[in-house]
Amino acid sequence: MSNETLQAVKGMNDILPDEAELWLWFEEEVRDWLHGYGYRNIRMPLVEPTALFKRAIGEVTDIVEKEMYSFEDALNGDNLTLRPEGTASCVRAVLQHNLLYNAPQRLYYSGQMFRHERPQKGRYRQFHQIGVEALGFAGPDIDAEQILMCARLWRRLGLRDVALQLNTLGDAASRHRHRVKLIAYFEQHRDRLDADATRRLYTNPLRILDSKNPAMQELVAAAPGLSDELDEEAIRHFDEVQAVLKHHDVVFEINPRLVRGLDYYNRTVFEWVTTRLGAQGTVCAGGRYDGLVEQIGGKPAPAMGFAMGVERLLALLQEDGMALPKAEVDVYVVHQGELAGRLASRVAEQLRDDRLHVLLHCGGGSFKSQMKKADASGATVAVVIGDDEAQAGEVSVKPMRGGEQVRVKVQTLVETVNKLIK
Ligand code: HAM
Repeated sequence: MSNETLQAVKGMNDILPDEAELWLWFEEEVRDWLHGYGYRNIRMPLVEPTALFKRAIGEVTDIVEKEMYSFEDALNGDNLTLRPEGTASCVRAVLQHNLLYNAPQRLYYSGQMFRHERPQKGRYRQFHQIGVEALGFAGPDIDAEQILMCARLWRRLGLRDVALQLNTLGDAASRHRHRVKLIAYFEQHRDRLDADATRRLYTNPLRILDSKNPAMQELVAAAPGLSDELDEEAIRHFDEVQAVLKHHDVVFEINPRLVRGLDYYNRTVFEWVTTRLGAQGTVCAGGRYDGLVEQIGGKPAPAMGFAMGVERLLALLQEDGMALPKAEVDVYVVHQGELAGRLASRVAEQLRDDRLHVLLHCGGGSFKSQMKKADASGATVAVVIGDDEAQAGEVSVKPMRGGEQVRVKVQTLVETVNKLIK
């Protein structure tokens, strides 16, 4: 048997304790922000039937054609997939549990997503999203609110240089008209289509517009736009979204080429983009998906949502020089001798009863070396116990950032420590 060290799967990262502090801080900020807009948490499985994603995201998309971790359950032959995104699962869960029965829903989720992409900075095979979905809302007010929400989060996090791109994809009829024109256009330029585009010409020509192939860009840029086909109602909806954003001084750019990589969108779509993360500059993206609920088997219901890439946002924050927050240690307990050891673990538990964060020294060593560890832990206070103190039912308390060491009765320790910490 080989004894070489095993490595994590390519494109799937460990998040080590120092960095995890930043994740915890971020997750708390985000939770508070979401609750500020009335969103409630929902948690779905990481694995879903493959058919769900095929139906929701679309058979002829990069995600479904090339990027899904799909497998057959060896025990019963079910076709399963590690979720590549959360919207499909969220809608499935909402329908399965009848949550839209008598009220619209504002929901959020967070967690791992899986896509078999080529890993590079900001693009991973396991990554994390915070996803936000508002189901049962038809008007442009919720579209605008979600975009305003994002703007507030960026302000709150102190993020600079994320720009908003906006587009409308219209509704089914106008998309159909556009599709016919696109096919005719690309047919005329068949010799310039790459393999992907040729394959998608009749199945999903809109996806050709999403091509990343540099050789296709000129052709794509000159393709007929959707804007000429839009219905009045979709235009009115989009105008209203823009009016609210302007009213709130949110700067945006209309990008008619913004089509998104998933098939379920209609009307408003948006992306928040930065130029500071190289090629993977989209930190948050979403849009309206009024047809998806029905497509997954529910009664028709409009919806709007978005998801942000946590790795990308945190990378951006770190680019801005944000220091890693550190878990706080209130008290470090050092001790030497058998009696002292027993008292030390007792006082550590007492301090924790009072919700203090306590590191009890483990592993022995001289007082001097233990005090070094206490210092390095960043604790505000050290509690020092030798056998003579233990015998007297007392402990010494040493403020680590200056101040006199005092000796106190065990019964008054919690009070003494609390005074020093506040
Ligand atoms: P998406 O654009 O596929 O949309 O992904 C949303 C965000 O997830 C991206 O903007 C990016 O920040 C992050 N992301 C995507 N792929 C990767 C990757 N391989 N590595 C790192 N980060 C990545 C959705 O997933 C939709 N479900 C969003 C949505 C919700 N639309 C409506 N509701």
